[in-house]
Amino acid sequence: MSTDSTTTDDAFPTDRPAVVTCGLPYANGDLHIGHLRGYIGADAFSRALETLGQETAYVSGSDMHGTPVAVNAEEEGVSPEEFAMEWHEQYEETFPKFNVDFDNYGHTHDETNTEFTQEIVRTLDDEGYVYEKEIQVAYDPDADQYLPDRYVEGTCPYCGEKARGDECDEGCQRHLEPGEVEDPTSTITGNAAEYRDRTHKFFEVSEFADYLTEFLDGLEGTSNARNQPRQWIEEGLQDWCLTRDMEWGIDYPNGDSETTEDIVLYVWVDAPVEYIASTKQYADRVGTDEYDWERVWKDDGDIVHVIGRDIIQHHTIFWPAMLEGAGYNKPRAVAATGFITINGKGLSTSRNRAIWAKEYLEEGFHPDLLRYYLTTTGGLQQDVDFSWDAFQEKVNGELVGTVGNFWYRSLLFAYRNYEGTPEADVSEEVAERIKGAIGQTREAVNDYSLRGIGQAATQLAQFGNEYIQRNEPWKLTDDDPEQAAQVIRDCVQIAKAVGVLLEPIAPDKAQALWEQLGEDGDVSDVHLEDALESPPRNFDEPGELFEKIEDDRVAELNEKLEERVAAAGDDDESDDNEETESDDTASDESAAMADEDEGEDAATGDLEPLLEERIGFEDFQELDIRVGRIESAEGIEGADDLAKLEVDIGFETRQVVAGIKQLHDLDELPGEKCILLANMEPAELFGVESNGMILAAGDEADLLTTHDDAVVGEKVQ
Ligand code: 2FM
Ligand code: ZN
Repeated sequence: MSTDSTTTDDAFPTDRPAVVTCGLPYANGDLHIGHLRGYIGADAFSRALETLGQETAYVSGSDMHGTPVAVNAEEEGVSPEEFAMEWHEQYEETFPKFNVDFDNYGHTHDETNTEFTQEIVRTLDDEGYVYEKEIQVAYDPDADQYLPDRYVEGTCPYCGEKARGDECDEGCQRHLEPGEVEDPTSTITGNAAEYRDRTHKFFEVSEFADYLTEFLDGLEGTSNARNQPRQWIEEGLQDWCLTRDMEWGIDYPNGDSETTEDIVLYVWVDAPVEYIASTKQYADRVGTDEYDWERVWKDDGDIVHVIGRDIIQHHTIFWPAMLEGAGYNKPRAVAATGFITINGKGLSTSRNRAIWAKEYLEEGFHPDLLRYYLTTTGGLQQDVDFSWDAFQEKVNGELVGTVGNFWYRSLLFAYRNYEGTPEADVSEEVAERIKGAIGQTREAVNDYSLRGIGQAATQLAQFGNEYIQRNEPWKLTDDDPEQAAQVIRDCVQIAKAVGVLLEPIAPDKAQALWEQLGEDGDVSDVHLEDALESPPRNFDEPGELFEKIEDDRVAELNEKLEERVAAAGDDDESDDNEETESDDTASDESAAMADEDEGEDAATGDLEPLLEERIGFEDFQELDIRVGRIESAEGIEGADDLAKLEVDIGFETRQVVAGIKQLHDLDELPGEKCILLANMEPAELFGVESNGMILAAGDEADLLTTHDDAVVGEKVQ
């Protein structure tokens, strides 16, 4: 199990209200699988919390301000407000179609958010955390315009990659302050920009370094969200420019000084505040007796942020510093999702290599299939590769073959022979097995492991299939009717339990099962323990709830995808790294490289494929695995996760790149024994050659080693 939940003595469910949020999508374009991954993931997590009996609100909203919206609106020739509102309305319609059931979905341009934002900034200012400073701001003389954020491009001063004005979107993913990007070019005219002096407001984030260090020590969620910021703090925090030279956005509070006249708040100031505003809007609707938003945000409620990994810095440095400075509560957890690839290549909206939300629905697939695929393939942290082939395999294998098959055969047998649930008590074996699955779910929720939640359900269905197969009730109906009834009684209970457990991931399908069992109300309202309650005595003839995806359908979908990528002018020669596109979403995209820091709940997650796909001894012998000793270890500049190691493997010393920078104290590694896959193909990562692979287990990259006197260079066999 991963150890993502650090506060074991304060496990969910708590007696406090919780809020689950997910990163706000910029209201500037069509939603795709990169977005859906985050919104579905957070929705499933919030539903799962509720099944534990945790009082939970799930909120988000559209991110309406900033240059991501202004630039696109300008291209369309409409006002940013009109442009953003149109997209916002489209998002509001789209999310429910994927069973993403927000308790409130607002937007950052409304009054509630404006008021909260201004109140928070005013407090920070009053508390002395804000100061004015003259800085250099990019300016386009031809357009006669200052160039905040996406109006300017240049080179990242940290890693040398091409970067936008406020983020190194193609390289190290760092937030960049105004004036930092080198060789600035205007995205309006393509001309070289000049830097001019301007006075702006700054937030003293550097004052919060100690607070943030402590905050990170207690932070739950995914390990990447804790480890990267630790490094940024160690490197020294910079203060954060709160304002921008543009008209579209929220005005700086406290008014009309000369400085604040032509500036607005930076979009990243008001965007996370929408988490609070949206929660309050929900509470206003249902009544504060029903949901106490102030307890959540100003006192001790449980705040869980689900975000894309490209915005970790905003959620673990700037945002908690703002909250602390303005007297608000702090997040309990930040879960940062990995990237999405399509057929092993980076998702790219410009190359049309994406699965669009609209397209998926138009193809007629049920939303729960995609929900299942995304949550059980990648959970909250791992990278996800989507291909129609893998989608078909998962749906046909796990949903049709395991879950659907078990549901249908159990209920049909029960209906035909007993007109419903046979009259018997559930056997002890089955009751214990269901209790085990409930425990597994509870643990998975506390580990922020969506895969674990899905597995608890599918493994229970798998057990059901084995149970029915082992007991062969069809042979018992004549010879031992009592035993036959017992077996089917057990199976009906297992079927119901699978439905309850699967609800967070596949809510519609779970509801359909619920209704087939003759249950009243909504399965989304029940708690995990209800999995042990008897279903109604009678139910009608069941139908099949999952449908196989045929090969020719997949071939057709693959062809469509290939054709449109080709039409968008993709050259397959291009380096996959260049296909990384961080296009405004809180939850996409592309994997420039696999990250060894990405193992959510790998202990159970990878068991099945290992059991099914065996290799022969000869295959194993092809692996040249050696005992090594680490001679030196140092971080690779510009790469948040990577370290360069020199490893002695007896007959030579190998240079190896490993994704362990955030997970180990590099100074302590020299002298340690390790295990190295020595005949791994050499690769180059961030310009550094890697000649072998260090073996490590799990989320925290626990380095494998030997425990006796195996000498350096010895072969592992
Ligand atoms: O990166 C993005 O897509 C932003 N719109 C995310 C905002 S999340 C937040 F903090 F509100
Ligand atoms: Zn960079």
